[in-house]
Amino acid sequence: MALPPPTPLGGSSDLTADPAPATPSRPAPATPPLPAQADISREIAALHAAGERDRAAGAPAPEHPARDFAPYRSGALRHPHRPLVEIDHRADPEAVELRGPAFGVTDITDLDADLTRQHAGEPLGERITVTGRILDRTGRPVRGQLVEIWQANASGRYAHQRDQHPAPLDPHFTGVGRCLTDDEGRYAFTTVKPGAYPWRNHHNAWRPAHIHFSLFGSAFTQRLITQMYFPGDPLFPYDPILGSVTDPAARARLVAAYDHELSRPEWSLGYRWDIVLDGPSATWIEEGR
Ligand SMILES: [Fe+2]
Repeated sequence: MALPPPTPLGGSSDLTADPAPATPSRPAPATPPLPAQADISREIAALHAAGERDRAAGAPAPEHPARDFAPYRSGALRHPHRPLVEIDHRADPEAVELRGPAFGVTDITDLDADLTRQHAGEPLGERITVTGRILDRTGRPVRGQLVEIWQANASGRYAHQRDQHPAPLDPHFTGVGRCLTDDEGRYAFTTVKPGAYPWRNHHNAWRPAHIHFSLFGSAFTQRLITQMYFPGDPLFPYDPILGSVTDPAARARLVAAYDHELSRPEWSLGYRWDIVLDGPSATWIEEGR
């Protein structure tokens, strides 16, 4: 099965193509100015303070970032506004196909998990290994889980037509990979460290370096999407997507740990990141985006 095309979720879909040229009879409407970083940062701080007050008052911890997190401007028009539709497989027998196993070991090769070997040459950038375990709330491994990733190249550019910002594409890097978790719930990818990229949410908006993760359960209808970040990124305080996770402890769980034991001499740097599917230590997931 072919690898999926890089899907522009999170900030990347905001890297829109150039607008269509205006006709002489109907000039293009003026584009409103982008908000300033200071305005976005002030809104994030206020929402984090509100979350802190809620936690102090004993409010139950939210399991997902808010769909309408206002500083994440570009999410406002494309998040679901209505309740999700429940599929009744008894009323629609064909819907039962949605409940079948999605992938097996014969569908995926070892090469799918090595993003540095998908072309004739090797991509530019800092070669890294990213590994971790998928766990349930009690720490049990989730086996045979399809884990997919997509990411920008080392220059911060997606191999996607909607990403037109002036950073170079890498002919040796597509930026998508996948693997199945083993019996210990472990996944592993070899790739290059992605660069930060601009995304027009506001003036001078830059996403911290990140890798998008998708997890399929035992059916196509069971999909979780989240993002992994790299430790010590100076862009963390400015990013309304990471900031939409209002609990600082939950934000910290989205950041991988550098693991020197995982680094390989003369070859790659190692990062470790576990994903916990639910419970008090759950990794926050982008619900319904
Ligand atoms: Fe992204």
